[in-house]
Amino acid sequence: MDLILPQPSERQKDFLRERHRFVAFGGARGGGKSFAVRMKAKLLCLAYPGIRVCIVRKTYPELKSNHIDALAAELASVAVYRSTSREFAFINGSRIFMRACRTDGELTKFQGTEYDVVFIDEATQFSEEAFRTISATVRGVNSFPKRVYLTCNPGGVGHGWVKRLFIDRRFKPGERPGDYSFIKSLVTDNPALALSDPDYAERLRALPPKLRRAWLEGDWDVFDGQFFEEFRDVPEHYGDRLFTHVIEPFEIPREWQIYRSYDFGYGKPFDVSWWAVDFDGRAYLILQLYGASSPNVGLKWTPDRQFEEIAKIEREHRWLKGKNIYGVADPSIWDSSRGDAIIDSAERRFISFEPGDNARIAGWMQCHYRLAFDGEGRPMVYFFNTCREAIRTLPLLVYSKTSPEDLDTDGEDHFADSFRYFCMSRPIAPRRAESAHERLPDDPLDLRVRYGKYVYS
Ligand SMILES: Nc1ncnc2c1ncn2[C@@H]1O[C@H](COP(=O)(O)OP(=O)(O)OP(=O)(O)O)[C@@H](O)[C@H]1O
Ligand SMILES: [Mg+2]
Repeated sequence: MDLILPQPSERQKDFLRERHRFVAFGGARGGGKSFAVRMKAKLLCLAYPGIRVCIVRKTYPELKSNHIDALAAELASVAVYRSTSREFAFINGSRIFMRACRTDGELTKFQGTEYDVVFIDEATQFSEEAFRTISATVRGVNSFPKRVYLTCNPGGVGHGWVKRLFIDRRFKPGERPGDYSFIKSLVTDNPALALSDPDYAERLRALPPKLRRAWLEGDWDVFDGQFFEEFRDVPEHYGDRLFTHVIEPFEIPREWQIYRSYDFGYGKPFDVSWWAVDFDGRAYLILQLYGASSPNVGLKWTPDRQFEEIAKIEREHRWLKGKNIYGVADPSIWDSSRGDAIIDSAERRFISFEPGDNARIAGWMQCHYRLAFDGEGRPMVYFFNTCREAIRTLPLLVYSKTSPEDLDTDGEDHFADSFRYFCMSRPIAPRRAESAHERLPDDPLDLRVRYGKYVYS
């Protein structure tokens, strides 16, 4: 029985050698963690005929695209995949079960099951209860190793418990410190990635410093404090370059496309933002109507009142009147489960909207990509200094305690949501974030050169 395995990286070798009861392989995205999971699973199956291994991920499509397709090809000579029972059966009797667990409600399917070794890929997407329940399946009266291997990126609902057990090592009664081991993976540990996807590190570099540190360097302490840390409302000079997001208003050329983004609120703030987009795709927040703080706009404006005001502004303002305005809004305004949908009120006034894409993390990434400065100090979004509520609220937002890559929704996030819907309606490719603050000590872009001749078999 011959199986040719590729060359593992040094960090992957550490992972393959690990024998603790609980092993977390964590850190940067793209560090080669899922790859190491498959390699370890294969090695265990070959070394221990009859062993029962399980690989868990949040959803079946992820399991398939990340693991099943790859394993089917890699194991063609030694195992068959049975799609009904979702398992790889080796000719020596070993088995790898592929299991998805989308919600804690699905945990019952793990009860009464026994495995020798379980891999939880992307463990930070699971709750602590899910981790406990899935780990409890590792038992059985045989001489096979009994272990739980986790892979994890900082962020996600499980950020807290993974950090507690493996980074901070703050144990509760009943948890034995000697059972837990952590291996930090960095994107720079995966030379194969630099070859197959040289833009990967570049995409990560387009993020603001904290997110970049979390994902590129695997730093677990960063999801704390200001969410839009890259936002510059006061200009900063670096040499002859000026970094700012806030500028003096100027006359908008008639040819520029105008967008309107809307976050609904009644009894809480609402936000209407008008954006002008130039021929390079650069956006300018030119006008804003915000339902709080400004003296003339009450919190208690009904939807009708809000849309009347929008219609009036668009009829009268010289930048907007006669223009074909593309609207995007909070998708909840289409909800008609409790009577008339709010969108009906808008449509009665001929104000049209498309439902905004509410994928939050992807949306925040788009906001970050737009805010990133290029080599000349130019972001892809500017804010006219007259849009006070945007400029006031954006820097106040902080990271969520429960969902670390998201922002804390207890904050005044109405403009931010509106900004996010706008960005998702015109997504841009990430650009290299350029800030004088942050030069990475070990620039991953050098990898391409350094590992230019890297080959593996
Ligand atoms: N030792 C290796 N030899 C060849 N290719 C590798 C090796 N390690 C990883 N790769 C490749 O590098 C890419 C990233 O690896 P992988 O998907 O395992 O990373 P990851 O840490 O799981 O990333 P993510 O955090 O995004 O889940 C994949 O294309 C994988 O096949
Ligand atoms: Mg992975």
